[in-house]
Amino acid sequence: MSIKKAILPVAGMGTRFLPITKSVPKEMLPIIDKPILHYLIEELADSGIEEVVMITGRGKGCIEDYFDQNLDLERNLTEKGKKKEAEEIAKIASMVKLAYTRQPQPPQGNGHAIICAENLIGEDEPVVMLFGDDLVVNKENPVTKQMMDLYEEKKCPILCVEEVPEDMISSYGIIDAEKDPSASSGQGAKNVFQVKSMIEKPKREEAPSNLGVIGKYIITPEIIKILKELWDKKEFNKELGITDALRAHLKTGGEIYAIRPDGKRYDTGDKWELLKANIEFALERDDLKDKLKEHLKKLF
Ligand code: G1P
Repeated sequence: MSIKKAILPVAGMGTRFLPITKSVPKEMLPIIDKPILHYLIEELADSGIEEVVMITGRGKGCIEDYFDQNLDLERNLTEKGKKKEAEEIAKIASMVKLAYTRQPQPPQGNGHAIICAENLIGEDEPVVMLFGDDLVVNKENPVTKQMMDLYEEKKCPILCVEEVPEDMISSYGIIDAEKDPSASSGQGAKNVFQVKSMIEKPKREEAPSNLGVIGKYIITPEIIKILKELWDKKEFNKELGITDALRAHLKTGGEIYAIRPDGKRYDTGDKWELLKANIEFALERDDLKDKLKEHLKKLF
């Protein structure tokens, strides 16, 4: 079955960005004039995803408002002769079909978020899952599409990885993997790995590699089944994570592949990275790049 649906867990409290996240969801923080989530939905639509389920929570209502139609605003812009702007606003609500469900507070892990969306995912349906704070930019070949192509070849869960700096290893799920010489997807064999095992946020000296899992996955129905079993038996530590299910899948002989995608990553859950994204995106924009360059020159 080809993938048409994605799920986005966006119930997290965003404590790394307090105080702004006291009332603004971290996924709605802007890169210039669009929230991070808008870029992610664009990536999904450009990859051929048609339906998106967001798992939200308390205080996340403005996400629904943002992706809803705003006919008053569209009419107002049109009346002022701003047809192009009106079209851009209208497009936000039509990129994909959206559905929302809620994860009770406090969120009990990204694995539990997936279970909350279970009734909105078909029983035999693989889905893309994106976290709201990882942006990997590749306009020609979106990263979700690179992962979906690998899924078509492997028909098993797919992870997205990158080499992470030594001092960041303990913030990531880290994989032990072998390069897959048979893969032809994405960037070719050198960027596709067969995952042997994985460990969540290990100490630097216990990490099997420096390949960290970033917030983009393709999950299959088996993974959702395992998550439900783990949840029912309470076989997890504090929170139920997607990594718990992926590890269990590997232990029972299941396959998982990982792709090191072609694209530039911004961990927008980190203040410096979000600032960097704002600067670099501005340097790509015709309306801002000259002013920014000029200003930076003046400053230094
Ligand atoms: C989650 C995953 C972790 C992964 C990370 C990527 O952790 O559990 O394996 O490396 O996302 O962002 P979190 O950052 O939600 O604690």
